[in-house]
Amino acid sequence: MKVLVIGSGGREHALVWKLKQSSQVEKVYCAPGNAGIAADAECVDIGVGELEKLADFAEQNHIDLTVVGPEAPLCDGVVDCFRNRNLTVFGPAKEAAQLEGSKDFAKAFMLKYNIPTAKAATFESEVPAAEYVKKEFASGAKGIVIKADGLAAGKGVLVADNEADALAFLHGCFDGAFGAAGAKVLVEECLYGEEASILALCDGKTIVPLVSSQDHKRVGDGDTGLNTGGMGAYSPAPVVNDKVWEKINTRILAPFLKGVQAEKLDFRGVIFVGIMVCDGEPKVLEFNVRFGDPEIQPVLRRFDGDWFDVLDKVARGRLAEADLVWSEDPAVSVVLASGGYPGSYQKGFEISGLAEAAATGAVVFHAGTAFKDGKIVNAGGRVLGVSARGKTIAEAIEKAYEAVDKISFEGGFCRRDIGAKALKYNK
Ligand code: AMP
Ligand code: GLY
Repeated sequence: MKVLVIGSGGREHALVWKLKQSSQVEKVYCAPGNAGIAADAECVDIGVGELEKLADFAEQNHIDLTVVGPEAPLCDGVVDCFRNRNLTVFGPAKEAAQLEGSKDFAKAFMLKYNIPTAKAATFESEVPAAEYVKKEFASGAKGIVIKADGLAAGKGVLVADNEADALAFLHGCFDGAFGAAGAKVLVEECLYGEEASILALCDGKTIVPLVSSQDHKRVGDGDTGLNTGGMGAYSPAPVVNDKVWEKINTRILAPFLKGVQAEKLDFRGVIFVGIMVCDGEPKVLEFNVRFGDPEIQPVLRRFDGDWFDVLDKVARGRLAEADLVWSEDPAVSVVLASGGYPGSYQKGFEISGLAEAAATGAVVFHAGTAFKDGKIVNAGGRVLGVSARGKTIAEAIEKAYEAVDKISFEGGFCRRDIGAKALKYNK
């Protein structure tokens, strides 16, 4: 089988790496890929936004399955474009992708199908939104969350603990800080608890969760500093204990499937449910219609089955027949980022120690890397995801950092506490 993966980040490297291990897969292509993906797949110079060109490539090269990584092409309708040409593709169609592409659409879906989530109101102009924010603080709210409705590359959300910050962000949204994505804004109740990421495969008939995971969104140790795309992740997330899983299945995933069917959404892909566990009660913070990055890295480190077979069955509406085989061993992935990230950063510094890191047994997934004069250099904010599996979470953490410490590039940094939250559950 020939597979095409669309995207160029750590998520896509992890997908390529796992797909390649399938005995059914003879060749993996990745468009556009990166310097690390190039070692595992043939990189194709087509951008993720060139939908027709991607479909042309799949047609001309007799691709058996295309897997879409990022949300932007999904929301732009890449899946519709492929399905119109009878090409097999993993991902939701454009209408279904609104579950990530519009927070207002997602919120309305959650309310309609009784999925537990934070209370919210949607506004299309600043004055009533600001009044709502003031009223919430006046009635004792300790915080408020402002969300630009559309896709804003992870920057469109502010969790504010005071009115001034909330109003300033709100003003920015309506003032064009996020372009059209901020023309509509959700003002949401702030939830307090511990976050976890639930990735579930769904083909419109069946919904099957993968193992749980937890991201580290803030740039600094101890969850301090600015929000990022994710500085590291581990799996499983102990906050998702058996009782919480039961609630996720019955109150979130089952109604989600019911909603997909009732709304006649063509959803053959993955739904990533960001949850907050508040006193044992899981509530939905957001839906994404793609694999979480870095979450998918430790999740796939724990997958011991045939990943091609699973994704292919989802794409063909036969998920019920798929066999998901998981290791009990936890896994961790630590992100190495460019100095200055998530603000501005310099690119083009040579990365050393990649072979030494791999020699420890870790798997190094590339995110923002490129070739320059035959060398691998940093080329994005998040550069690498260094992942390891262990008999315990403590062992996985130790192994991941052993590999991390072999790697260096000018300005490169990572959080030193990835996975630490899981340790408290073992005491
Ligand atoms: P979203 O893009 O909606 O997931 O928001 C990004 C991040 O903002 C989440 O991962 C949470 O850390 C935080 N967040 C979003 N909504 C809420 C909420 N209602 N209460 C507290 N934190 C939130
Ligand atoms: N790591 C969070 C995300 O993929 O959105």
